[in-house]
Amino acid sequence: MAVWWCDMCGIVGYVGEREALPIVLGSLRRIEYRGYDSCGVLVQDSANEQIYIHKGLESIGELMEKLHYHGTIGIGHTRWATHGMPSVRNAHPHLDCSGEIAVVHNGIIENFQSLKEGLLRSCRFRSDTDTEVIPHLIEKMLERARETGKPYDALLKEAVRESLSYLKGSYAIIVAIKGFDGLIAARRESPLIIGLGDRENFIASDVPAVLEQTNRVIYLEEGDIAVVKKDGIQIENGAVEVTRVARVIPWTIEDAEKGGYEHFMLKEIHEEPKAIIDTLRGYLTETGIELGFDAGHEILMVACGTSYYAALCGKYIIEHIARIPVHVELASEFNYSDTVLGDDTTVMAITQSGETADTLMALKKAKRFGCRTVAITNVLGSSVTRIADDTVYIRAGPEIGVAATKSFIAQLVILYLLGFYIADMPGHELESWLGELKRLPQLAQMVIDDSNTAIRANARYLAGFENVFFVGRGVNLPVALEGALKLKEISYIHAEGYAAGELKHGPFALLTDATPVVAILSYDNVYEKTLGNIKEIKARGAPVIAVAVDGDEEVEKYVDAVIRVPASRAILSPIPNTVALHLLAYWTANTRGCEIDKPRNLAKSVTVE
Ligand code: M6R
Repeated sequence: MAVWWCDMCGIVGYVGEREALPIVLGSLRRIEYRGYDSCGVLVQDSANEQIYIHKGLESIGELMEKLHYHGTIGIGHTRWATHGMPSVRNAHPHLDCSGEIAVVHNGIIENFQSLKEGLLRSCRFRSDTDTEVIPHLIEKMLERARETGKPYDALLKEAVRESLSYLKGSYAIIVAIKGFDGLIAARRESPLIIGLGDRENFIASDVPAVLEQTNRVIYLEEGDIAVVKKDGIQIENGAVEVTRVARVIPWTIEDAEKGGYEHFMLKEIHEEPKAIIDTLRGYLTETGIELGFDAGHEILMVACGTSYYAALCGKYIIEHIARIPVHVELASEFNYSDTVLGDDTTVMAITQSGETADTLMALKKAKRFGCRTVAITNVLGSSVTRIADDTVYIRAGPEIGVAATKSFIAQLVILYLLGFYIADMPGHELESWLGELKRLPQLAQMVIDDSNTAIRANARYLAGFENVFFVGRGVNLPVALEGALKLKEISYIHAEGYAAGELKHGPFALLTDATPVVAILSYDNVYEKTLGNIKEIKARGAPVIAVAVDGDEEVEKYVDAVIRVPASRAILSPIPNTVALHLLAYWTANTRGCEIDKPRNLAKSVTVE
């Protein structure tokens, strides 16, 4: 039988005095980027002790129109399936036999099969999910605990605690129980927060879910179990009551809304200049740069996806500026490699969400080698910050579009700062570089302001093809990889990023007039070489679009079109170049009418290996 995991989802809960349904649906809609294959809600009406449940394949928007349940307690779930097709049967919440204990879950219960076999003797299962064992376990434990005659709240907590002790794997769960005036939340290896309100409280996988209601948030820690009621929260860990400090999140609801843009992705690209400013501001002091940790003399960076490309750029940047060795590994490869690390290597995990499972594992592996670990992340209090010895926050603000954009730019800013921080430069030289860094927001803005002409025209052109190459050399090779990832992710055009000098070792065989090539250049030591590669590509009949600096007249002689970016020092060119490529991908996908913020089969943070 197919197994239906719920390993990458969004969960939310509300308990208070207002109608729960619109709050739960509103919160779910804000974290739909965590998954959007199917969804479900439960609302409890405390007046007549009724519970109402809906599960479906509709969008959250459709549920907002269609459902009208009344009640002041609610939970919800939006799902990203990795094993099997989404279906109503497997959508959350999942229930016990009586239909009175309901659970929404994000994570994987690894030993669910053996648990289920035991439970099947007395329980009726209605889904093929791993999650369903949880309500059945709670049901069993509650029966047992009832015999102790303890007060109801204590019984429930005990039943949940006992049930969780049987689980192997990862979970963030919210449990609703008919007749109970609160919710129970628990986490292990999956994120979960509690938003604090006035005579109401909120539970969610991610901060954007609660931002409309509150910016005061408690981050639950590994193993925490919380009983959340409208006027109080009790948290325990290992059966001992604990206190968790609330933090004020510096994001506003406007940060997490589209603000008049057609898509979050476009809004977030337009916020790239601000992400640079905010990130720089966080670390520039009167005398230079302060990142707050010692980077050592050898660095390994681990990351996935776009963050991995930022790390690759970081290698070029830091080796150029600080002249120390930087290695970069895909977290998913590093985790199972035989790489041996010396304890003098500093291992940096780059992750926008701070929740990517592969990256977290890689950091834990580095710790086992005794390495100093640093997290570079966007999300305050995310899991990676709890693992790493030090954390450096990029200050991109909430990124909702599944495609990473402003977070990549802000990650680059941190990597530039890191390069200068490590390099032992004379004061005047550092000052001159910092002057250049401070110009970056303006350069990014110029690309955005110009984007209505060349970028949009070339996007319309690319939208008609099914295969595109992106090529670059040096620090612009990772930029080419990022340009290709962004295009394929949101426009479904097959795109490959390649080292410009490598095409001749194989991919030339694919070049025809139906495989346009986007070539990224800057005035650096490989400019002439890249130009040579462009000539070779043209000779094979492929159309070439160059991304090149203003005033580069030479390139015009060899290509079909040029997207102009303002000139900067070559090592800084990834910033204007990437802004151009993000816009190119966006407008290409827009021309093709794609679902840009929620591309098929993807989710924003991938909390599964
Ligand atoms: O949150 P992270 O930076 O760790 O996420 C890593 C990747 O999953 C992410 O960058 C992904 O590749 C993006 N969808 C790319 O746009």
